[in-house]
Amino acid sequence: MIVLGIETSCDETGVALYNTTPWEEGKPAFQGILGQGLHSQIAMHRDYGGVVPELASRDHIRRVLPLLDQSLSQSGLKLADIDAVAFTQGPGLAGALLVGSAFAKSLAQGLNLPSIGVHHLEGHLLSPLLGQSAPQFPFIALLVSGGHTQLMKVSGIGQYELLGETMDDAAGEAFDKTAKLLGLNYPGGAAISKLAEKGRPGIFDLPKPMLHSGDLDFSFSGLKTAVLNQVKKFEERKITDSSEVAQFHTDLARSFVDAIVTVLVSKSEKALKQTSCKHLVLAGGVGANMQLRNALNDKAKKNRFEVHYPPLELCTDNGVMIAFAGALRMLAKNNGSTTSGAFDIKPRWDLQSNNLI
Ligand code: KG4
Ligand code: ZN
Repeated sequence: MIVLGIETSCDETGVALYNTTPWEEGKPAFQGILGQGLHSQIAMHRDYGGVVPELASRDHIRRVLPLLDQSLSQSGLKLADIDAVAFTQGPGLAGALLVGSAFAKSLAQGLNLPSIGVHHLEGHLLSPLLGQSAPQFPFIALLVSGGHTQLMKVSGIGQYELLGETMDDAAGEAFDKTAKLLGLNYPGGAAISKLAEKGRPGIFDLPKPMLHSGDLDFSFSGLKTAVLNQVKKFEERKITDSSEVAQFHTDLARSFVDAIVTVLVSKSEKALKQTSCKHLVLAGGVGANMQLRNALNDKAKKNRFEVHYPPLELCTDNGVMIAFAGALRMLAKNNGSTTSGAFDIKPRWDLQSNNLI
């Protein structure tokens, strides 16, 4: 079965074609990726310091068809070769989701194909199965994106249990807001992580929120405020020497990244212990963070669990993960395929409510 995937939930337009045959034959899942096209709107939104929903929707409209053409020509397939259309039905920006939903459903109807609405986070959760070392079920997923921070127990396709989540900012949001405080461009996650590589450890004593809360929930807004307080304190000193300013920024970036990584790693380990799982999966945009990956790898070696990552290019939003998640849902029979003609989207959507059993 060949599934077309369409992702338009936020600021990336992603289109991909996925062939389920390798998966069905027990071969590595990444062999099923036939073609893909991705356009990031980051440059367009940068001047505004964040995503402008209306601009995002309009750009998805411009990009989605050329990206479909690109995916088709890359794979050597024609529209007639497609067996099903998967699209991100939610959660995300309503206007942006509507573009993908309208496009996917119209195409499916025109080609007389089934369409399936995919939960964006399910796409992220399952994307490590497309990596070189795929995890076995059950596993714990640490889902860290611009909009979500969750720990999930994944017992199978469509079998998700929320163990803990953020009470306020998402991890990616904390990265982006802190990066802004340090004068970095939106979205600052990757930039602050790069800056932190040069910073000295332990210069600032930043909070590690909810580290000892006893549960698996997170909170990051206090950490961001602590960074803001350090920035204000530094500004009061009216230092003009550029190298001193740069040193301040790199050291603060380092303390921030260390704090957030400590909390994410500690709670992930706690989730593994609590569920007796031996496999941890890192998913979502913040999963591209090398400090987090290195810290998890170290802990995994020490404490005998395995960590699995999606390929780096599939950490942030993309069409492949939507095609893949849609395909696995369809193979799982109870596919929840959306047969109505309505462009129904779910800007707010609890993943567990979409469980298969
Ligand atoms: O999953 P994603 O592409 O979009 C959402 O569904 O939100 O995640 C985007 C988030 C942004 O907040 C971005 O700053 C963050 O992932 N991000 C990173 C890195 N690369 C992307 N955060 C930390 N380190 C990185 N290397
Ligand atoms: Zn995402």
